Amino acid sequence: MRASAPARRIRTRSAVVAAAAAAALLGSLASVPAAHADSDSDRRRPARTLHELARESGRYFGSAVDNPELADTEFAELLGTEFGQTTPGNGMKWYATEPERGVFDFTAGDEIVDYAKANGLKVRGHTLLWHSQLPAWLSEGTWTKAELRSILKNHITQVVKHYKGKVFAWDVANEIMNEDGTYRENIFYKVIGPGYIADALRWARAADPKVKLYLNDYNVEALGPKSDAYYTLIKQLKKDRVPIDGFGLQAHLALQYGFPGGYEENLRRFADLGVDVSITELDIRMQLPADEAKLAEQADWYGRVTEGCLEVRRCVGITLWGYTDRHSWIPDFFPGEGAALPWDENLRHKPAYDAIREELAEAAEDD
Ligand code: XIL
Repeated sequence: MRASAPARRIRTRSAVVAAAAAAALLGSLASVPAAHADSDSDRRRPARTLHELARESGRYFGSAVDNPELADTEFAELLGTEFGQTTPGNGMKWYATEPERGVFDFTAGDEIVDYAKANGLKVRGHTLLWHSQLPAWLSEGTWTKAELRSILKNHITQVVKHYKGKVFAWDVANEIMNEDGTYRENIFYKVIGPGYIADALRWARAADPKVKLYLNDYNVEALGPKSDAYYTLIKQLKKDRVPIDGFGLQAHLALQYGFPGGYEENLRRFADLGVDVSITELDIRMQLPADEAKLAEQADWYGRVTEGCLEVRRCVGITLWGYTDRHSWIPDFFPGEGAALPWDENLRHKPAYDAIREELAEAAEDD
């Protein structure tokens, strides 16, 4: 799990050999989890990973990880070989990094940064400011505007400085809009007012001049009031010379709601504003039980999400919110739903994996 890059490569190769042997026995590659021959080419050549394919078009392909999952060595090894980027699922959130006022704890975030470094993955920081998973001292306190501004400034400054040079991007503000495009009335909005967003971005920039600063949200993949609100906000921030480098689209999609309308056009309009875009938390859930038809539709959607990103030059990468149904937040948060990721609970590829791979391979050939 903490092997150096060359050691990893050797292990990958032997895994391919083992996989080829297993495939010869089974007469099919479909059931082989970690390794996969390029379908259009010599089966003896080591397969390129999703990240290697994405890198050919200048993108990364990543997966989130929550700290306890690193103890699952089979899981951690595949994460370290197949992907080029990771995001801590919880480890850098406010409750984890500043559990008491002014007392910082970077243990969980550091564990993921160390794992990522050992495995050659880059890290997105998630997240400096959010209405959820705040420590009780903060959410249950009563604050004046000046106090809360100073708490927010100190939090952002300490966390960003600690991870300077270790993360390439930060979700500075997470989920700050309502579905109708109005500002979410989180504690920061209520006490400080909408100016907290520009403040947060400026403080983050002051703490690390190089890291990419993002706004991030869900239900912003389609054209509509929520994505319009971000479009307007980012345009204004740019005009006001507030540092903003990217827009993150979480992409927690669900088959029963239909594919987000105008997805690619939406990505493009943000890119045209002069910011990067990325798909930051992709999963595509379904009502359980899963069946062949739903898995085929899911695969189609994964392919379309990937293709849309590859079509837009400033779409810099895709992060799955976990890669396997073995470790996914969906069943806990959406009862009766699940099967949202491209690898199943046994770390076997689902049709979604092949769909992603096909899009990446096609783009890699074009470039
Ligand atoms: C989720 C984590 O995956 C869970 O483990 C945790 O209990 C709740 O948060 N949008 C986000 C992520 O920005 O931080 C959330 O992660 C999923 C929704």
